[in-house]
Amino acid sequence: MTAPDLRSGGIAVLDFGSQYTQLIARRVRELGVYAEVFPFDAPLEKINQHSPKGYILSGGPNSIYEDGAPQLQPALLTSGSPILGLCYGMQALTYSLGGTVAGSTHREYGRADLTHHGSRLFTDVPETSHVWMSHGDRIEQPPSGFTPLAVSENSPYAAMGDESRGLYGVQFHPEVVHTAYGAQILKNFVVDLCGCAEKWNAGAFIDDAVEKIRTQVGEGRVLLALSGGVDSSVAAALLQKAIGDRLMCVFVDTGMMRLNEPEQVATVFGQGDMHFTALNASEEFLSALAGISDPESKRKIIGKTFIDLFTRYASEQAGAGVKFLGQGTIYPDVIESAHSSKVSKVIKSHHNVGGLPPDLADKFSLVEPLRDLFKDEVRRVGEALGLPGTLIWRQPFPGPGLGIRCPGEITWERLETLRQADAIFIEELEKAGLMRYDSTQLTAQCFVVLLPVKSVGVMGDNRTYEEVAALRAVVTDDFMTADWARLDYNLLARVSNRIVNEVKGINRVLYDITSKPPATIEWE
Ligand code: XMP
Repeated sequence: MTAPDLRSGGIAVLDFGSQYTQLIARRVRELGVYAEVFPFDAPLEKINQHSPKGYILSGGPNSIYEDGAPQLQPALLTSGSPILGLCYGMQALTYSLGGTVAGSTHREYGRADLTHHGSRLFTDVPETSHVWMSHGDRIEQPPSGFTPLAVSENSPYAAMGDESRGLYGVQFHPEVVHTAYGAQILKNFVVDLCGCAEKWNAGAFIDDAVEKIRTQVGEGRVLLALSGGVDSSVAAALLQKAIGDRLMCVFVDTGMMRLNEPEQVATVFGQGDMHFTALNASEEFLSALAGISDPESKRKIIGKTFIDLFTRYASEQAGAGVKFLGQGTIYPDVIESAHSSKVSKVIKSHHNVGGLPPDLADKFSLVEPLRDLFKDEVRRVGEALGLPGTLIWRQPFPGPGLGIRCPGEITWERLETLRQADAIFIEELEKAGLMRYDSTQLTAQCFVVLLPVKSVGVMGDNRTYEEVAALRAVVTDDFMTADWARLDYNLLARVSNRIVNEVKGINRVLYDITSKPPATIEWE
């Protein structure tokens, strides 16, 4: 008997270039319905591979009449399935059906009041509510068969529909939290109008993933590079559930981990029947980094040393008959690499284990059980698998570790100094309830940077001449932009006091009050 396809009968989200496209898919999944993102011009067989029951067209930055503006594939209109166009998606729908779109004299950006006229799309939505608008163009003449379903001050067709054909468009963004009843409107479309079953949840995903892993791996063994971060940890727990002791996890201690981190990872994963190997490669990393101060060189050396080491280890295991490599790749990585049409400048070379050298990829098949999940879904799966909250809700930690928080030359002594200062900062934040290990994390990322600058101080009756610690704490949802956390002065005072008193080698503490942009979160 084959299990029912967990992904079938969901929603296909077509990407017309909006910054919110991933968010649309996440919102639909929060309703318990599988949603998958496709480029607007993906082949129809691909879009329909999981037999979606409806389509959502994202917004986008273009004007529909512009040269090269993305257009709706006519074949979608003959599918008979409901379609909901959001903002540009609504305009694309209008244009393809013969309606008229025009530049509006009044652009609408930000909050607007929406008044609807009653329809299935607005079930359980008050007659007037706040929505989030972000558009220049608007619908002048809807296609034939469409009626207005809602208005706003500047949009006579803030929502429209041809209910007999299940075609809808809204000028606002139901996917953003600023649209008060956005989740309800999406639910009305997805569950009521498309008839999608609410079957996508962590438990169902785990059962499905376990079965898929078993089918792929058979009696084989899987090697997984485990960093102790959320993605690789959840991938490990899932793989272990599926294949038990045929999973081999390897953790590389680069010497640039935080205080007690290697021990914590070993405690969580080194017990029970999991094959867990910790490779202490501190010396190899530090000798490769000796004399190097340039940030990009550091990143490249750390990335390369890691890959060399892992490749060596994996090759030995390949010799021992291991044929599969596990990776904690998640859905945003997949979407971003599949859709990345934009040429962006390299700000920093992010270290990424995903970029496996071809000789390694030739020897192994990849097992990527989290490929379809967003980060919040990965966390929910981790919870359902029983991983500790301290691991699931931990703040992100960059692959190059403390190496990029130690401007100047990296030495063991400086790393030890940094580790202690960092641990004090985190401990005080934890005591203040600012690093709560749940979904309401109040700061998104907090750490200490050790500056290679010496300053004069006085301690007791003695002159000191030591390095400077900079505290960094940021608030952000997506790590693309960030603001510095407005930490309480008393807390900062306590941290500063403790660091200069308890950590040898630091006699001055600064607080970084720069947002991203123009700064970045890390210092290198
Ligand atoms: P920046 O410094 O670019 O950082 O504002 C944004 C987020 O990415 C993390 N980061 C990295 N993560 N490998 C990683 O796995 C890297 O090379 C890397 N560099 C930065 C950073 O900690 C922050 O969360």
